[in-house]
Amino acid sequence: MFEHIQAAPADPILGLNDAYKKDPNPNKINLGVGVYKDELGHTPILKAVKQAEERLLLQEKSKNYLSIEGRPNYRSAVQTLLFGKDHQIISKQLAQTAHTPGGTGALRVAAEFIKKHLPEATIWVSNPTWANHQSVFQSVGLEVGSYSYYNADSKTLDFEAMLASLSQVPEGDVVLFHGCCHNPTGIDPTPEQWYQLAKLCSKQGFLALFDFAYQGFGQSLNDDAQGLRTFLDHVPEMLIASSFSKNFGLYNERVGALTIVCETSDQAESAFTQIKRCIRTNYSNPPSHGSAVVAEILNDAELYALWESELDTMRTRIHEMRSLFVNTLRAKGVNQDFSFISQQQGMFSFSGLTPDQVAQLRNEFGIYIVGSGRINVAGMTHDNMAPLCEAIASVIKG
Ligand code: LMR
Repeated sequence: MFEHIQAAPADPILGLNDAYKKDPNPNKINLGVGVYKDELGHTPILKAVKQAEERLLLQEKSKNYLSIEGRPNYRSAVQTLLFGKDHQIISKQLAQTAHTPGGTGALRVAAEFIKKHLPEATIWVSNPTWANHQSVFQSVGLEVGSYSYYNADSKTLDFEAMLASLSQVPEGDVVLFHGCCHNPTGIDPTPEQWYQLAKLCSKQGFLALFDFAYQGFGQSLNDDAQGLRTFLDHVPEMLIASSFSKNFGLYNERVGALTIVCETSDQAESAFTQIKRCIRTNYSNPPSHGSAVVAEILNDAELYALWESELDTMRTRIHEMRSLFVNTLRAKGVNQDFSFISQQQGMFSFSGLTPDQVAQLRNEFGIYIVGSGRINVAGMTHDNMAPLCEAIASVIKG
């Protein structure tokens, strides 16, 4: 039965992790998968998470199923984080949120929902985009197109080309935007550019799907939500896939959410019943622990403040690593201009390293970078910076 099945290629991001783990090089450095590391190279459990877990352990009385959409205090807290607490979307109940297993789970549920209810829609993703986007959408049979985003020469957002591409997207199609901290480039639209994109969305009549996996890693929790909030000033409908893997450090708890915003609360309720069908026929209902932790933190002033300060610390450390990386490369004799890296935000930057250089870094130095040249700046530390930059200097000169 199974003898004809060919092995699938390794995942371009998670496959790197497996290769990294097997590498015996004691000086290996992992800048592949988007996971935050502290100065010691550890992926810490946040103090706010630990404290919430201690409370939950004492309070938890049952392991009964959650409802299909997840726990109410989580769903409402996610909306407050997305829209801000006084937003009319909340007061008028124009949005419905389901807890999904991670941001990828949210995207997959969104994909099935789109395929079923907007069957003619093509979904447009930025060029480049997260390596898994296309596969998630194609796995439900959606057509995937791409729109211009990045200027590889200037290492900036090619906003004119982006507008020109999106002006061709017809009414009824879906456009995926990265809410902040664009993965893989680290380059986001400015507030003025978000405004222009929102106007274009309204004019063209396409549906925006925001992939929002890094809220708090760019500028702040509120600033990072400005893109999607600006859209909501101009368009009545939206899908949002949230992830709390990074900003709560809850990678292995698979905690995310899919939110649908509609023109009326009746429409939102009705559409949400279909989202729940997609969930029921897929994984039935969500796992409990991660959302319980997030809800505990977001609904408690003290834990919220602690979490926000820990998030600030992570963001500040990454910004610091960006500058240190640029300066250390220069100090190690690299003449190529990498200063763009200190202007970008979030975990990632597109380094401009070629596939050959990426392969050389891995084979000769045990440095793991995604094949596209995307580097996870959050994997850099004061300790690994010098060997990292020496290795890069060597492959660039060589
Ligand atoms: C990444 O882009 O590295 C992360 O979002 C992890 C993943 O699932 O790919």
